[in-house]
Amino acid sequence: MNGCTNMNLKNKDFLKIIDYSSQEINYLIDLAIEYKNKKNKRIPHREFEEYNVALIFEKSSTRTRCSFEVAAHDLGMGSTYIDSHNSHLGLKESIEDTAKVLAGIYDGICYRGFGQEIIEEIAKHATVPVWNGLTDQAHPTQILADLMTMKEKFGRLQGLKIVYLGDARFNIGNSLLVGAAKMGMDFTVAAPKDFFQKQQLIKKCKKIAEQTGAKISFEENVKKAVIDADVLYTDVWVSMGEPEELWTPRIEQLAHCQVNQELINLADPDAIFMHCLPAFHDLKTATAREINLKIGIQEMEVTDQVFRSKQSLVFKQAENRMHTIKAIMAATINKY
Ligand code: CP
Ligand code: NVA
Repeated sequence: MNGCTNMNLKNKDFLKIIDYSSQEINYLIDLAIEYKNKKNKRIPHREFEEYNVALIFEKSSTRTRCSFEVAAHDLGMGSTYIDSHNSHLGLKESIEDTAKVLAGIYDGICYRGFGQEIIEEIAKHATVPVWNGLTDQAHPTQILADLMTMKEKFGRLQGLKIVYLGDARFNIGNSLLVGAAKMGMDFTVAAPKDFFQKQQLIKKCKKIAEQTGAKISFEENVKKAVIDADVLYTDVWVSMGEPEELWTPRIEQLAHCQVNQELINLADPDAIFMHCLPAFHDLKTATAREINLKIGIQEMEVTDQVFRSKQSLVFKQAENRMHTIKAIMAATINKY
């Protein structure tokens, strides 16, 4: 189906972006673009009738869960949503046994949860492909959608200047760094140095960058970092699973990393704003109102003005989650 016909990803897990080559990432992006065109023209692509996938979610989700369910449905597959309250996972049944059971029933497994070691354990014992729907350390399906969105906008990835603002040590910051290194991008983290990724990951990415021509830099001066940027990317300041008490110190530490009009004005005139979502840009959520009562701020990692501006591609990103997840499932499920 895709131009790159001899790309064989059958039965390959999708646990971290680093496990995929630049060619494989490009292949998946192009496959997702093909599926998007089909979907938009309502051309049926039920290529996996009689196949089924299991979706294990130990953390909340809107985009990822819906994307897996709709993508599975479009491909003709059945899907089962499993959450930690209504399954035995980890309580009465080990990860190993659960993985073996599900692999006997399903043709692929998505897992969203806490430590990366949990999904690695599932993958070790499952004989079907396992896809990472988010862990504390990685969010590879998100980054594939982000790369697709950038490619659609700019027609290329190589050499694009992308600046990530905020806490870069969690899933999005980690996976974006790897994705940018793999695709030869010019990637800068703009944050206080305590929020930079771990040295071990940075070292690995710098090695990848030697091969791909990527540039990787770290800058505490946020205004300097965003000059001429093509993409300004941010994420929440406290991630799922982190203690609530972190909100107050994080807001103090990261307030100057907020993506606002002043920062956008320093970037390239055609620059775009990206965010994996959900975002705290107004007071229309219970969490934002609670923080507002306590600390008094109305917007956090991005202002409402930037979030709603023409430069903001956040909803395109969200839509592309479905097309890219469809590409990942279609490329990796072993079709007999
Ligand atoms: N971006 C993302 O993963 O969103 P959800 O948490 O809604 O799945
Ligand atoms: N870093 C965020 C990403 C949400 C998609 C979190 O883990 O909550």
